[in-house]
Amino acid sequence: MKNATKRKTQPAATFEEEYRSGLSEYALRGGEAALGRAYALGRRAISEKMSLIELASLHHQALHRMLADARGALRNRELLTAGCDFLAETLSPYEMAHRGVQDAIAALRQLNETLEEEIKRIAYAVHDEAGQLLVAVHLALADLARELPEHQKAEVGRIEKLLNQVEKQLRRYSHELRPTVLDDLGWVPAIRLLAEGVSKRANLRIQVKTTIAGRLAGPLEIALYRIVQEALTNAARHAKASQVRIQIERKNRLLCCTIEDDGVGFDAREVQSDGKRRGLGLIGMQERLSAIGGTLSIKSAPGRGTKLLIQLATENSNANSHRAR
Ligand SMILES: Nc1ncnc2c1ncn2[C@@H]1O[C@H](COP(=O)(O)OP(=O)(O)OP(=O)(O)O)[C@@H](O)[C@H]1O
Ligand SMILES: [Mg+2]
Repeated sequence: MKNATKRKTQPAATFEEEYRSGLSEYALRGGEAALGRAYALGRRAISEKMSLIELASLHHQALHRMLADARGALRNRELLTAGCDFLAETLSPYEMAHRGVQDAIAALRQLNETLEEEIKRIAYAVHDEAGQLLVAVHLALADLARELPEHQKAEVGRIEKLLNQVEKQLRRYSHELRPTVLDDLGWVPAIRLLAEGVSKRANLRIQVKTTIAGRLAGPLEIALYRIVQEALTNAARHAKASQVRIQIERKNRLLCCTIEDDGVGFDAREVQSDGKRRGLGLIGMQERLSAIGGTLSIKSAPGRGTKLLIQLATENSNANSHRAR
């Protein structure tokens, strides 16, 4: 009874202890079962969020201890070989996870490209088809106006003015959906145009400052544009801000873009936690960025505004810096 209680209260072996025991079992007896243990340890290391550097250092220490206990040069060589095999097997789940991430990134890129194509199609449809329909309505109204007595023509004039506004808005929306300036001049001019539109619609002061000139690869420009677009939409929808500042600059090889508003702020951790996620915007930003190898950090707190920092390593020598405009 006493023994049973003792056994029950014995703490589970730590990862380090398990690793040492697995490694020494493999070094002494070899065999598939011990390698299977190495593989299971690799999976456990991933689930415990152990970094590769931590794992390598733990392996180094375990091997060092075994070498100190072992005798003779030959034994040392055997131990080192066994250690290499054991470590390689422990690392194989990392390799598989890494491949999984690479595949997921490739799939995300593909999905982004498909979505961009679809957005392009919708933008052209809004621009061309809705534009054509509006032209037809204008013509019909002009016909109608000719038939009407003079005192009723003013009414048609008012409808035409409203239609002109609709047309202007539709053109602006279609340009924001897929701005031709993005393809023609690049993401920075496209963001200026976008900022201008959002500023008018949301009655929000938006300042764009940049020290960047030149172009980036197409998929990078599209991703950056979409991310800033979502950040501005969020600022206009949620922040109750009076001002937004966008700053784009290069720091060494890093392209840095900050979008800062002076609004109500929010608890970024909470809105992104499981079960509390409200929308897709922030997660979409993160996914777009990870697909192009960038990172997003969000600094925000209730009552203290929001600052998003996008960082992306780019090799593009075309994207030169020049004095801030
Ligand atoms: N600039 C901001 N200021 C204040 N709150 C923000 C800001 N950006 C995001 N939030 C908060 O974070 C939440 C999540 O934002 P997210 O963009 O992921 O979703 P959403 O805007 O609610 O919906 P969606 O983007 O899918 O249309 C928002 O609902 C809002 O509460
Ligand atoms: Mg949003």
